Amino acid sequence: MSPGPAGLEARRFADWAEDAARLRRAYEARARVSALEAPEALAQRSTEDGPRFFDALFSGLSLDGPLRCLDVGCGTGGLLDFLAARFPGAPLARYLGLDLVPAFVEHAAARAEGRRIEFRRADFLDPAFRLDERFGVVVACGALVHYVRHYPAYLDAMLRKMLACTERHLLFNVIAGIDDTSPNYARAPVPGEPFALGKDPLFRVLEGLPGITYDIRDLRLFPDAVDSFVRIEKDPPARSSRSATTRRSHASAGSGSDRRCHRIEKSKPSAANGSSRTSSP
Ligand SMILES: C[S@@+](CC[C@H](N)C(=O)[O-])C[C@H]1O[C@@H](n2cnc3c(N)ncnc32)[C@H](O)[C@@H]1O
Repeated sequence: MSPGPAGLEARRFADWAEDAARLRRAYEARARVSALEAPEALAQRSTEDGPRFFDALFSGLSLDGPLRCLDVGCGTGGLLDFLAARFPGAPLARYLGLDLVPAFVEHAAARAEGRRIEFRRADFLDPAFRLDERFGVVVACGALVHYVRHYPAYLDAMLRKMLACTERHLLFNVIAGIDDTSPNYARAPVPGEPFALGKDPLFRVLEGLPGITYDIRDLRLFPDAVDSFVRIEKDPPARSSRSATTRRSHASAGSGSDRRCHRIEKSKPSAANGSSRTSSP
């Protein structure tokens, strides 16, 4: 007998918990061979990569007044430096960084300041993990680019939980497309490895979210992939009652910088080896 909707959902959450554990182990393996400050620990290629992705996510966003930010998949908390430099007029009233990897959270804890700036180890999607607090901006930079089973449903579940935590803005990126010849990406989906979601599944997930407007910018920040940078804004309460989702705009910029970030560059295999990517532990 096939499981009912509740059984199906429970099975998906169990799969997602397993995939989160795989992802955590993959990052822990990286952290064992590179210093936690090194970009490679976060699957980046250069120290400028983090700021470049943050810049793309926050581009065009104007923030005034005290900023309250939830950083889902915060890594070692690099977003803090970016926010201070990019929004000098929006003092950071509250920052909460969450990550799966204990070593990242422990490292980032040196930046913590009482209740104002805080880091916690958590699997954000774990049903047992709940936040009572709400934030002006919720960010997931590089946290949704890894393949997870039932990927579109996973993205939908993550976005709904993040939307429940934001009063207004939600910013995230996913991989829209990859170069077929690149050795940096798996051809077949491998949990824990970066993977292109594609535009149609992204649109379908976004169109299913009630009470929001969104815009998407496609940027080729790496030569072998295009990332979609998505900015969601929650409708003010009066408009949300219509529960409508509006696609506000979609800009595509095919030629970005040649610098790559967030996804470690692998050497190109010989033609005889094909172009598949090895999976992380
Ligand atoms: C590519 S790193 C980016 C780190 C940081 N946001 C930055 O841009 O420097 C992605 C991070 O997301 C974290 N992550 C992925 N899924 C997560 C989840 N479900 N809950 C908490 N953290 C998660 C990973 O552990 C990893 O540290």
